[in-house]
Amino acid sequence: MAKKELKWYKIFASIDEASTKVPLNTTKRARIGTQKVCIAHTSEGFFAVDDECTHMRASLTNGHLNNYSEVICPWHGYRFCLKTGEEKSGKNTYALETHKIEEREDGLYLGLYKDQKPPQKDEFSY
Ligand code: FES
Repeated sequence: MAKKELKWYKIFASIDEASTKVPLNTTKRARIGTQKVCIAHTSEGFFAVDDECTHMRASLTNGHLNNYSEVICPWHGYRFCLKTGEEKSGKNTYALETHKIEEREDGLYLGLYKDQKPPQKDEFSY
């Protein structure tokens, strides 16, 4: 099986900027081309998951976070682990796709696998 290749996108120039734009216990939607990603900031750090809930496609950026680094969907309350994408309240749905976040000296980067809904253009925006 071919190894998946990550492509990295710089989403913030520094951790300070990331913490200002995504304060603790909040989320922000990032767009890479046509792909929407929910960036979440918890006491355990920054996480990235697909923005679209696997139940009925609500935007998880409009949900909220709990103290277990889970995002709670605004529509029906399904709880997804930000580390694994797994649904934690026992509901029958698929896990969320999780994405890599990497803190580097020059900023915070989001890693997307090239075979994940490839972006139309390499632009990052909120
Ligand atoms: S749409 Fe997310 S729980 Fe139903």
